[in-house]
Amino acid sequence: MLVAGKTVRELALEVPNATRVFERLGIDYCCGGGRSLEEACAVAHVTLEDVERSLAEAEKQPVEAGHDDASWQRVPLFGLIAHIIQKHHYFVRRELTRIEPLLVRVIASHGPAHPELLEVQRQFRGLGEELLQHMEKEEQILFPYVTRLEECESRRQPVAPPRFGTVENPIRMMMQEHESAGSALRTIRAKTDNYRLPAGACAGYESLFRALQDFEQDLHQHIHLENNILFPRAVELEGKARARGGWGEAD
Ligand SMILES: [Fe+2]
Ligand SMILES: [Fe+2]
Repeated sequence: MLVAGKTVRELALEVPNATRVFERLGIDYCCGGGRSLEEACAVAHVTLEDVERSLAEAEKQPVEAGHDDASWQRVPLFGLIAHIIQKHHYFVRRELTRIEPLLVRVIASHGPAHPELLEVQRQFRGLGEELLQHMEKEEQILFPYVTRLEECESRRQPVAPPRFGTVENPIRMMMQEHESAGSALRTIRAKTDNYRLPAGACAGYESLFRALQDFEQDLHQHIHLENNILFPRAVELEGKARARGGWGEAD
């Protein structure tokens, strides 16, 4: 496999199951997709040989449902958007309401001995509030515009230019917000010493750490689909509409 000189994003899209390998090895494939694999390995403290070997093995495994990046690059964008909302936005909203009371319960029993849990709670609450607003903006502003753009393009109809000028503006904002979510997750991971359970942790503690790790993993996949597949395709589509002169009157 030729990985030298490739970016994490390129490999995530080209190699089946690559995102599962990156997740397991702690390689940032969503916000840090623009890094070369060599650079990403240095940040994650793993060797290039280890990653190459794991990628070669993963490539032979069947692709997990919902993780088929090759088809997400081909399906109409409205299908990808529906998948993001139904799977990932739904998951975030559901887990935010489940994890919050779990945190409160674990802090009530273990907070005095583990004050770092209070910082985890602070970070998680901030992350939750940000994500709810973020998803609202995607669902109300960005996604409807991309769907309309695709519809007009397929019918060769003129597209009304959006109030935000070009799709690149909300995309830039969404990507900054993804960075901020990624950084909150990294802080939570560091505060919990990579989700290492302390001696004497109860079942609730274990469920909390499991839930936080699942939340992190889902958010990585969610951001990967947006940053690495949806957003570049939306920019390309808008470019095509402009190039064919299909830019209509303003909204
Ligand atoms: Fe999203
Ligand atoms: Fe997003």
